[in-house]
Amino acid sequence: LRHLTSLENLPRETIERLLDRAEALRDACAHGTRKLDVLAGRTVLNLFFEPSTRTRTSFELAARRLGADVINFDLGLSSTSKGEELFDTLHTLEAMHMDAIIVRHKRSGTPDELVRHAMSGVSVINAGDGNNAHPTQGLLDALTIRQHRPDFENLSVLICGDIKHSRVARSDIHALSVLGVKDIRLCGPAELMPAPDEVPQGRRHTDFDEAIQGVDAVIMLRLQKERMASIDLPDEAAYFARYGLDRRRLALASKGCLVMHPGPINRGIEIASDVADGAQSRILEQVGNGVFVRMAVLNEVLAR
Ligand code: CP
Repeated sequence: LRHLTSLENLPRETIERLLDRAEALRDACAHGTRKLDVLAGRTVLNLFFEPSTRTRTSFELAARRLGADVINFDLGLSSTSKGEELFDTLHTLEAMHMDAIIVRHKRSGTPDELVRHAMSGVSVINAGDGNNAHPTQGLLDALTIRQHRPDFENLSVLICGDIKHSRVARSDIHALSVLGVKDIRLCGPAELMPAPDEVPQGRRHTDFDEAIQGVDAVIMLRLQKERMASIDLPDEAAYFARYGLDRRRLALASKGCLVMHPGPINRGIEIASDVADGAQSRILEQVGNGVFVRMAVLNEVLAR
């Protein structure tokens, strides 16, 4: 791999190789390895045009653990605020010999545009573009599920919430489908469901109690209000009553159902605090796995 802009078109072997490498890096760190030097002398740039806590920090940690130098592009202090266009920013950064650019942007397709316009050998890694893709989140979610339930062919996975605006849902659906999950269910209000031709996979539900019956993992999504222009949403209490994950609903899933959320979580809107912090919650495991998945991806695209 030279770039990672999406999980679409990635064969199963490549996804499994990245997950296996992430697992090996996790084991190495558990046995005391804190730093490797496989990317010594390489420079990685975090170019985030949207806010981030988990993705940005874990890419930085991942790059540093592999021995790379990291630059965090400060949007507010950059010449972007003086009107510089994205591709001029790209070429400026390429002229400084960046090896990888990690990009997050509100416009779907921006990482692929950067790949097309790049003039040097820089690698582009997508850290989330619009509602299109969040490939490293898809990988870390698949890894988290695999650590508990490697029998993907037998699994039922439910994704619930604002699927229409979710790049995480799209990347999760791709990763899980390719890895063999046959029963993928999508649940949310009809107005927050993507068009069927846009997301053809998954059985659709609007009734959460029905959708969660017997599932082995439930991935909750927040309402992405920043991407909603004209949707008339119910108030938060009404939304929680219909689409919030609480203990009663979790009891309808299979015993030991994994509770997941990409974060940031909105407590009391899509998930109850006692479920988010409960024994079945894998939310912080997802965060931890994010570092190892991003190490695996950086190693894949840069170690050559
Ligand atoms: N899951 C995720 O992308 O979180 P951040 O927005 O904090 O990076």
